[in-house]
Amino acid sequence: MYRLVFAQVLRRFDAEAVHHLTVRALALLARAPMLKRLLHRALAPHDPALRVTAFGVHFPGPLGLAAGFDKDAACAEGIAALGFGHVEVGTITARAQPGNPRPRLFRLVREYAVINRMGFNNAGAAAAARRLSRTRGVPVVIGVNIGKTKVVPEAEAVADYVASARRLAPPADYLVVNVSSPNTPGLRNLQAVSLLRPLLAAVKEVADATPRRTPLLVKIAPDLADEDVDAVADLAVELGLDGIIATNTTIRHGGETGGLSGRPLKARSLEVLRRLRAKVGDRLTLVSVGGVEDVDDVWERLLAGATLVQGYTGWIYGGPLWASRIHRQLSRRVRRHGMKSITEAIGRTA
Ligand SMILES: Cc1cc2nc3c(=O)[nH]c(=O)nc-3n(C[C@H](O)[C@H](O)[C@H](O)COP(=O)(O)O)c2cc1C
Repeated sequence: MYRLVFAQVLRRFDAEAVHHLTVRALALLARAPMLKRLLHRALAPHDPALRVTAFGVHFPGPLGLAAGFDKDAACAEGIAALGFGHVEVGTITARAQPGNPRPRLFRLVREYAVINRMGFNNAGAAAAARRLSRTRGVPVVIGVNIGKTKVVPEAEAVADYVASARRLAPPADYLVVNVSSPNTPGLRNLQAVSLLRPLLAAVKEVADATPRRTPLLVKIAPDLADEDVDAVADLAVELGLDGIIATNTTIRHGGETGGLSGRPLKARSLEVLRRLRAKVGDRLTLVSVGGVEDVDDVWERLLAGATLVQGYTGWIYGGPLWASRIHRQLSRRVRRHGMKSITEAIGRTA
């Protein structure tokens, strides 16, 4: 049904216009308590066998929505009501900024992929913090992904991230330092260990100082050389980070300028996950993202050592019930394998 609606209607409209409409609809849903609770009861993962605990946070199921959809933390409850086990909001920057000129979001329908060069369009950390501090009507785990304000020079990046962290670590269930988006000039240079060390150490100090100690993760690019993946992994362990999110979009493609996501990213994302697992074992929580389309992909990531899995492009092509469907299928798979909990699958083939 969704495939038909997508093929006949949605793909004829500008991708970003459809995106904004969806965010608005989900924000409305988030403000409709009865409907939100009804949908949450019907679609959210409720099977105890799917529960996962990572860095002290309880997730109702392993599959969450990756950063970039709910950039301003406007509709996380609506997204959770559709069946996602967590929602990563952002990327949020310390100062509000408009992002790149449009068009900046392109569908590659035949490839099950998307190219975007959004450039962290968002209303800034203060606005997001206000939204996040409102009480929630349905349970939802919210990760907050922070990035550098575009006009801030690289030399002042640490202070800029720290400003975001001060506002956003307190209301976040976990915090993510994003140094891997390709659409802010110079951002990915921050993945070099010499620059990443002081950045992560400074943000960690802020995250550690919240009453609950907010867990801290770093999100990396698929285009890092293997040795650089290893170096970031070693650094994350050394600094006592909680986890790594791998991966962001890739710039290795021949299309429009921007980051490519979806099916073409699948193989490299899995490869980076396997490399990370081999390097850090279970000392860090690994969150796998990139080209996840169906239950087989989620299962494969869990077996390879991911505790949590995220998707974004798969949801665009899979339809609104995508996460709910995958969680239901995961429930059946856990039982078929004679497992009591999905956590038994994590790292089995690693
Ligand atoms: C339109 C769009 C916007 C995105 N914006 C962000 C962002 O702001 N911050 C971020 O860390 N990742 C962002 N991403 C990357 C996703 O979070 C994810 O890492 C990537 O798309 C790979 O997952 P997928 O293949 O399931 O889409 C964005 C992706 C898309 C498609």
